[in-house]
Amino acid sequence: CGIVGYTGFRDAYDIVISGLRRLEYRGYDSAGIVIDNKNNKLEVKKTKGKVDDLAEISEGLQGVAHVGMGHTRWATHGVPSDRNSHPHLSNNGKIALIHNGIIENYDTIKTMLIENGFEFHSETDTEVLVNLIQYFTDKSPELGFAGAVRASLNEVYGAYAITVMHEDFPGELIVARLGSPLAIGLGDKEFFIASDASPFVEFTKEAVYLEEGHMATISLENGVNIFTIKDNEKVEPAIQELRLNLEQIEKGGYEHFMLKEIFEQPKSILDTMRGRLLVNEGIIKMAGIWDHLERINKAERIVIIACGTSWHAGLIGEYLIEEFARIPVEVEYASEFRYRNPIIGPKDVVIAISQSGETADTMAAIKLAKEKGAFVYGICNVVDSSIARVTDAGSYTHAGPEIGVASTKAFTAQLTILSLIALKLGKHNGNLGNAEFMSLIAELDAIPTKVEEVLQSSHEVAKNIAKQYVDATNFLYLGRGYNFPSALEGALKLKEISYIHAEGYPAAEMKHGPIALIDENMPIVIIAPKQGHYDKIVSNVQEIKARKGQVIAVVNKGDVQVASMADHVIEMPETSECFSPIVAAIPLQLLSYYIAVYRGANVDQPRNLAKSVTVE
Ligand code: G6P
Repeated sequence: CGIVGYTGFRDAYDIVISGLRRLEYRGYDSAGIVIDNKNNKLEVKKTKGKVDDLAEISEGLQGVAHVGMGHTRWATHGVPSDRNSHPHLSNNGKIALIHNGIIENYDTIKTMLIENGFEFHSETDTEVLVNLIQYFTDKSPELGFAGAVRASLNEVYGAYAITVMHEDFPGELIVARLGSPLAIGLGDKEFFIASDASPFVEFTKEAVYLEEGHMATISLENGVNIFTIKDNEKVEPAIQELRLNLEQIEKGGYEHFMLKEIFEQPKSILDTMRGRLLVNEGIIKMAGIWDHLERINKAERIVIIACGTSWHAGLIGEYLIEEFARIPVEVEYASEFRYRNPIIGPKDVVIAISQSGETADTMAAIKLAKEKGAFVYGICNVVDSSIARVTDAGSYTHAGPEIGVASTKAFTAQLTILSLIALKLGKHNGNLGNAEFMSLIAELDAIPTKVEEVLQSSHEVAKNIAKQYVDATNFLYLGRGYNFPSALEGALKLKEISYIHAEGYPAAEMKHGPIALIDENMPIVIIAPKQGHYDKIVSNVQEIKARKGQVIAVVNKGDVQVASMADHVIEMPETSECFSPIVAAIPLQLLSYYIAVYRGANVDQPRNLAKSVTVE
């Protein structure tokens, strides 16, 4: 979910609505806004649907106030509906609350509040919290606004980022954070609040990221005051200079963020390698790894934890690290790892991969691994994100902001970082000889050019193929070795944005089940670069053709054998097998993108999904 708040001299409505549009990638099933109106009353407008729907019903709030806040939601408690949207008002209508995250003990609190005469109009945990704040202001007025918020937060368990307004305290916003991110933008006679800095980058470059367990009161009169929720101890704000610029978060002429991000990959991969891969000197420089090289190389085992696309990158990481550094690797879904009492200890190294750096399950898995004494290395894209902060060491992917919900450039950046790590570890521990190391880093250095090449050569081809499969209801993706995870990721991309059912499989496993599905209506995307079990893939294609399946083959330039059997061919430049998933990702992304576009789907904001899942 996304939060925006404002107090200052501008029109609060404009700031909140435009800010919410930037944050829509965080959730978009309902949206709402509250402002302090001319009569000093809180006025709320909210609706199921997108920020555009909200803008339509809330125009009347424009030009009315200089204080306000808004929310764009991804449903956790309660179905998306007008009633369940945020902000929520307390029973006396004086307190408005916006909340990201989950309050776990809301049921107990709700019962207590009902016993005290409170009524509830929605199914959300948020409504419970806002009434708890009213309960404290009614019961102990001496607490004041901030005191009542603090007392309430000390009663709840869960994860949250909240913003609160109170009619009797005009001009003041209170924010708090436990688990979900919140940034405060510091302008000249104005303050901004947002889940990330994108809603206010054009107004100020100074921001404070609220730390876990902290809350802040924000008003023009008293500025920003931060203190701990638990003990009310004052905290000095750590002001940061924002590195984000506006251009980075806008579409730049592309129809969708996803397409823009697909085309950014030659540059984003280069940015990931910048200053790290020094081919002429024959070295890989990575401060995060270098400082802990012994620790990582002596690991008995590396466990990679992640979710979604990042988990697919982790699978390829396993192949890379085991091949070059010869350290045993396991890859686990963060959500499985955290709930199954895993065997993990001080001799293990955990690598957590997350684009957003905020995924709740990954975060919880990291905490568990740390408690058990493991050393945790983070690979995040969002700078200063929660995961980046909580890990013992790490590397940023530096792919730049990724807005499209379906991950593209973050994925190839993760593969790039994992390649650098594997080669560095292998070189250092002696498993990777110098000659091989040198030739691999030269090949890695050439990847951005090859990615550019495949973008140019496969764009139209993928678009044409896509047109012919708009009505497909199922897809199968097959690959072997390094490109088995590519198949999983290709299928995930298609599912996410086109809502066509798709499955990824290791090509050889086809005969143990999926082959039963194959007939003339089944499109099968097969990733078949020359290196790595090519002849086996050839047999797989023969098996598919014998059953009349439609083959879309992703092959190396000039391929004859697979190409001659396939119904459609997408060519890509040749590279080492270990880096081929980076190159192969591009045509698969383009194919899903165009299938979704031709089906009229909302590519950047697919139904039911969210960019960063800060709930469990
Ligand atoms: C969500 C996103 C996916 C992403 C996954 C993990 O499901 O829609 O694109 O791969 O979360 O997110 P993370 O930010 O931890 O990489």
